[in-house]
Amino acid sequence: MGKQRILSGIQPTGELHLGNYLGAIRNWVEIQQSYDSYLFMADLHAITVPHDPNVLAENSRRVAALYLACGIDLNHATIFVQSHVAAHAELAWLFMCITPLNWLEDMIQFKEKAVKQGENVGAGLLCYPVLQAADILLYEPDKVPVGEDQKQHLELTRDIAARLNYQFGSEEQPVLKLPDPMIRKEGARVMSLTDGTKKMSKSDPSDLSRINLLDTPDQIAHKIKRCKTDSPRGLWFDDADRPECNNLLTLYMILSGQTKEVVATECQDMGWGQFKPLLTETMIGALKPIQDKYHEIMDEPGYLDSVLKQGKEKAEAIANPTLAKVKKALGYLLPS
Ligand code: TYM
Repeated sequence: MGKQRILSGIQPTGELHLGNYLGAIRNWVEIQQSYDSYLFMADLHAITVPHDPNVLAENSRRVAALYLACGIDLNHATIFVQSHVAAHAELAWLFMCITPLNWLEDMIQFKEKAVKQGENVGAGLLCYPVLQAADILLYEPDKVPVGEDQKQHLELTRDIAARLNYQFGSEEQPVLKLPDPMIRKEGARVMSLTDGTKKMSKSDPSDLSRINLLDTPDQIAHKIKRCKTDSPRGLWFDDADRPECNNLLTLYMILSGQTKEVVATECQDMGWGQFKPLLTETMIGALKPIQDKYHEIMDEPGYLDSVLKQGKEKAEAIANPTLAKVKKALGYLLPS
C-alpha cells in the first residue's frame, strides 16, 4: 500500500504568523515523512477580501519560500499555487450548484468577516468554503492538517462530498472520498498578543497582536514587551480567567520544545518581568533558522519558480482526473 495523502493550504495575504506556523506548517513538517503531502498557496481565496494586485504574486512566492524554510521537504511534498491548477475553480463551480445556500450562511468565518465588510461583502466571501471543499476533494486526501478555526470548513467539505455521492454516486461506488480533519491539540489555536480571547490573525489591524515569522529580533522584543498580561503573581496553564497567561505559556512550551509539566514547574513562581525576556529569547532563537533559510531561498534566482512549476505539474496529475470523474458523474459530455 502507498503512503496516505495529506492536503493543506494557507492564504497568501499579509505576513504568516506564529498561528499559521504552530497551527499548520509545523505539523506538516513533523508528519511529512509518513505522508505524501500536497501543500498550496490559496491565492484564489486571497481575493475574497479587498486585495492589492501589486503584492499578490510576490506574497505567493513568499509563502512558498516560508514553507520550505520551515522544513517542508520536496522529497515528500508537492508545493503549488492554487490558481495554477484550473481544476480548483472549475470544481468549485460544480459544487456551488449542489450546495444549499443556508450551509454557507452558517459559516462562522463568513459571519465574522462579513461584519467587517458591511454592505460591500462580496459573493466570493460567502462561497469561499465551497472553493475550499474543491481544493481538498480534488486531491482525495486521507487527512487535512489545519488549525482549529478550519474545523467547520472541513465539516462542510465532508457534507458536500457526501451530498454529491448521494445524488450522483452509489454506496458501492462513491464519487468522492471523505477526508478527515487533523487538528493537533497544542498550537491549534494561538491567541492574539493584545487579547487572549481572540485568535492571532493576519487580518487584525494591529501588528502588535501577532508575531510574524519574519519579524526581526527587535520587533519580537517590542511586541512581547507590549503584549497584554495580568496582575496575579505566578504563572499557570488552563485558567479561563487568564487567557493571556495560558497563551504565552503555551507558546513558550512549544517553541522551547519542553513538556507542559516542565514549563508549569519552571514558571510557577515567575512574574511577567522574568518570563517575558525568557519568552522573547526563545522565540527569537526558534525563528532564526527559519528566517535564515527563507532569505537563502529567496536569494537563489530561479529556484522557487522551478519548485512551483514542478508543483503545478504534479498537482494537476492528481486534480485533473478527479475533476473528470466528477464531471462524468454529473453527466457532462467529456472531450474525446
Ligand atoms: P489561513 O490562511 O487563515 O490559515 C492557514 C492555516 O493556519 C491556521 N491558523 C491558525 N492556527 C492556530 N492558531 C491561529 N491563530 C491560526 N490562524 C491560522 C489555519 O487553521 C490554517 O490551517 N481557508 C484556509 C486556507 C485554505 C485551506 C484549503 C486549508 C484554502 N483551501 C484547503 C486547508 C485545506 C485559510 O484561510 O487558512
